[in-house]
Amino acid sequence: MTNIKKIPASEITPEHIYNDRRNFIKNLGLILSSSALSTFANTSFGALNSLPSFAQAKNHGNEKLTSLKDITSYNNYYEFGTSKSDPHDHADLLKIDPWSISIEGSVAKPLKLDVDELIKLIPIEERIYRLRCVEGWSMVIPWVGIPLNSLLKKVSPTGNAKYVEFVSLKRPSEMIGQKDDMLDWPYTEGLRLDEAMHPLTILAVGLYGKVLPKQNGAPIRLVVPWKYGFKSIKAITKIRLVEKMPVSTWMKANSREYGFYANVNPEVDHPRWSQSTERRIGESLLAPRLKTEMFNGYQKEVAHLYQGMDLNRYF
Ligand code: MTE
Repeated sequence: MTNIKKIPASEITPEHIYNDRRNFIKNLGLILSSSALSTFANTSFGALNSLPSFAQAKNHGNEKLTSLKDITSYNNYYEFGTSKSDPHDHADLLKIDPWSISIEGSVAKPLKLDVDELIKLIPIEERIYRLRCVEGWSMVIPWVGIPLNSLLKKVSPTGNAKYVEFVSLKRPSEMIGQKDDMLDWPYTEGLRLDEAMHPLTILAVGLYGKVLPKQNGAPIRLVVPWKYGFKSIKAITKIRLVEKMPVSTWMKANSREYGFYANVNPEVDHPRWSQSTERRIGESLLAPRLKTEMFNGYQKEVAHLYQGMDLNRYF
């Protein structure tokens, strides 16, 4: 922890970047896989590398992993448009290399680093999580990422840090959905500090053992498995530790429909969609809908965070 220092952008030489990119490849464990050319993000820092020890299991408990095709072609990513196929069709325009992410605000040791540096700092792992969207569908996704708490510990949050705000990218020239002001760009999200520090919360840099596809939020996105999918912000550029509860993009857009907490809760319906059941993407349309579980099935791990809170009010 003591040898972590902020690296000003001016100090990053092209050679440094090149070496870091090579390390990203090494760190990912890599075997070159040409079959994935069109799906996985194509960057000089380790596109198309598979992680042989990851994503071997086809089933998670009794749950089948959602296919790579479905995970990468049925997306919500309004920066590229509002239909489910828009991110797959348009995200390729986005340049994700170079990319840096800064961790700032109420912290003793702010950091600015790129994805290569990040995964050199903190070992990556695979986490198979359910992703439950407020629209009533879900997937089971083998993410590759780092626990967010490991990163936050490196910056030493001060006593004023009560919440964490996440900020995505605003670049309308490459994100064609941003030409429309349907949302207040850049997309932002927030967590309470204890939610951000929970061991289930990760920053994902890959899935199915490979570099994250752009439509899924490359080069780095949040995944909070007990919350509705909209909390899991993609293409993060800033993580800010703050004292006051951040107002997220969706809260600004419609505070009656989208609350700060957004915990998966089958007992509290969204004004437009029931939350009691869900459709697993990839299953037959005739298959019975699954019952949605409290906190998306992670009740044992996270219920204590909300003890004594009225979850109808803090939705
Ligand atoms: N992040 C950004 N920057 N922009 C978005 O529109 N959509 C959210 C979330 N993260 C979104 C975002 C929503 S509504 C969902 S359900 C998930 O991403 C979908 O993640 P996936 O496409 O990887 O399944």
